[in-house]
Amino acid sequence: MLDTAETLKRRGGTREPARFAAPPEGRLTPEMQTAFRRDGFLLLEDMVPPEACDALMARAEVLVEGFDPSGIASIFSTRGQVHGRDRYFQDSGDKIRFFFEEEAFDESGELRQAKALSINKIGHAQHDLDPVFAAFSRSEALGAVAAGIGIAEPLLLQSMYIFKQPRIGGEVGWHQDSTFLYTEPLSVIGFWFALEDATLENGCLWALPGAHEGPLRQRWRRECEALMMDQLDATPWPEETAVPLEARKGSLVLLHGKLPHGSLPNRSARSRHAYTLHVIDGACRYPADNWLQRDAGLPLRGFAARGVQTPY
Ligand code: FE2
Repeated sequence: MLDTAETLKRRGGTREPARFAAPPEGRLTPEMQTAFRRDGFLLLEDMVPPEACDALMARAEVLVEGFDPSGIASIFSTRGQVHGRDRYFQDSGDKIRFFFEEEAFDESGELRQAKALSINKIGHAQHDLDPVFAAFSRSEALGAVAAGIGIAEPLLLQSMYIFKQPRIGGEVGWHQDSTFLYTEPLSVIGFWFALEDATLENGCLWALPGAHEGPLRQRWRRECEALMMDQLDATPWPEETAVPLEARKGSLVLLHGKLPHGSLPNRSARSRHAYTLHVIDGACRYPADNWLQRDAGLPLRGFAARGVQTPY
């Protein structure tokens, strides 16, 4: 993926994605619906007020401050077993867990740099378990957006707070979210929020517009205790069509579950915090071998839960 971006830059610039001002109350216009169907993504600027982004960032900081990594240092250390890391991940679908950058811990289990600069992401149920994340995630405007792209019975399956740390935030290669969150028929949609400006310099998203019309390439699933990747289709990514999705703070980018997307490393001195929600349609079948499974005591819910004060 790095090669793609470098080649495009050398060729003299990049294409610009379609971008729109967020509509009042999240009511998508026919032009927005057409753009989403055509491109497989929809970029809505100023969907979230900057204060709501700041509040979520402050809350993430508090969660990280309150987290003691000593209990999990062994599984993330360079001596850690893949199995232990897998379990910590596999059991996180109904919890708030902290995932570290590659090689954040040394062999003795000590962090190589400050905790707040070592975290890769927080996941995967803070939208249900933390009041600040819940309020951000369940606004009525987001419910209207989901309805506008045709999700009949939206369920908030997964949330991730992504740090994309300055200088060390790693690359995320081309992938389709339906690979990881699979339903029959396919239904997952990513709601990606820029909590800070996402630019070419600090590792913004890239996407292959229209490639969501192609096949699902891979499926990741549980088999017994392990996680497996099945190759479903070998069609190569149409990388020559790649566009960067630079997004101002407060933007929402909707990502179709089959849209190939990824991001480059963040080599800049600025972080690129983002928050993602993944929404499925409750009318679709959710297989028991998807990696993300929840305890029955924490059922999936839709947007705008009653009694939750939303910040926008
Ligand atoms: Fe993704």
